[in-house]
Amino acid sequence: TTASDRLVIPTRSPNNTVAILTLNRPKALNALSTPLFQALNAELEKVEEDESVRAIVITGGEKVFAAGADIKEMKDKEFAEAYTTNFLGSWNKIASIRKPIIGAVAGYALGGGCELAMLSDILIATPNATFAQPEITLGIIPGMGGSQRLTSLVGKARAMDMVLTGRKIDGVTAERWGLVSRLTKEGESVVDLAVKTAETVAGFGKVAVQAGKEAVNAALDLPLEQGLRLERRLFQQLFATQDQKEGMAAFAEKRKATWQDK
Ligand code: CAA
Repeated sequence: TTASDRLVIPTRSPNNTVAILTLNRPKALNALSTPLFQALNAELEKVEEDESVRAIVITGGEKVFAAGADIKEMKDKEFAEAYTTNFLGSWNKIASIRKPIIGAVAGYALGGGCELAMLSDILIATPNATFAQPEITLGIIPGMGGSQRLTSLVGKARAMDMVLTGRKIDGVTAERWGLVSRLTKEGESVVDLAVKTAETVAGFGKVAVQAGKEAVNAALDLPLEQGLRLERRLFQQLFATQDQKEGMAAFAEKRKATWQDK
């Protein structure tokens, strides 16, 4: 296979610390077919294991992120098959990745595309990107977090509006609603901005970065008291790391810290 037939193209940032996974099914607007998702999961598994990778960017490039699950593949699916094969269940693998994931969205992030974008830890978009959960227009509902993650990100009224009307919102609105944390400036590449952001995260100690991701994610899963306890334990445990000693010594000595990842 040549690079152009690969459904997900893995590349690296110049300093090699950021893995960039680019969805590559341009003719179908990166519709998330089962083979595409298998390819994405396989690449994620590789970069999760690879010690040189400190952060991951998931993108569809500068034109389209993903126009949703593959409708042609789903069209004739029956309940028994969907249920017994746990259709879409494998998408949740992304949620178990410990390394930070930065999503970079230009163009459409619809249905499963919007849900994949929301599986990122930090989401970056262009002002004219398009986010929507249009499943209602197909006689279904979101199947991979569009009713759950979207609601915790933007609140009930806005999530209900998107899920029940299929309305499209642009990147500017998505940023205002808290779905997206950074927008590109005029003429700026969304992939470059995501890689730059990923490099910032990749430049910190691995232990603290993983703990930060774990703690913030706990806020979505746990009641406040349990979340606060988990946060406090992780915080206290970081005082057992050399990176805490180094980070604070470097501050006191007015120099740059050198992280040991332990
Ligand atoms: N599945 C399969 N194929 C898709 C697709 C999808 N989700 N989205 C686009 N394509 C294909 C089109 O069928 C077309 O292929 P052909 O050239 O073979 O006809 C090609 O991509 C280009 O698309 P269009 O010609 O439609 O391009 P456009 O610019 O006119 O329209 C669009 C773009 C508005 C995004 C339109 O393609 C569209 O509405 N796509 C479907 C969006 C959608 O409903 N997504 C939700 C899917 S359900 C889901 O995701 C469930 C879940 O929760 C996981």
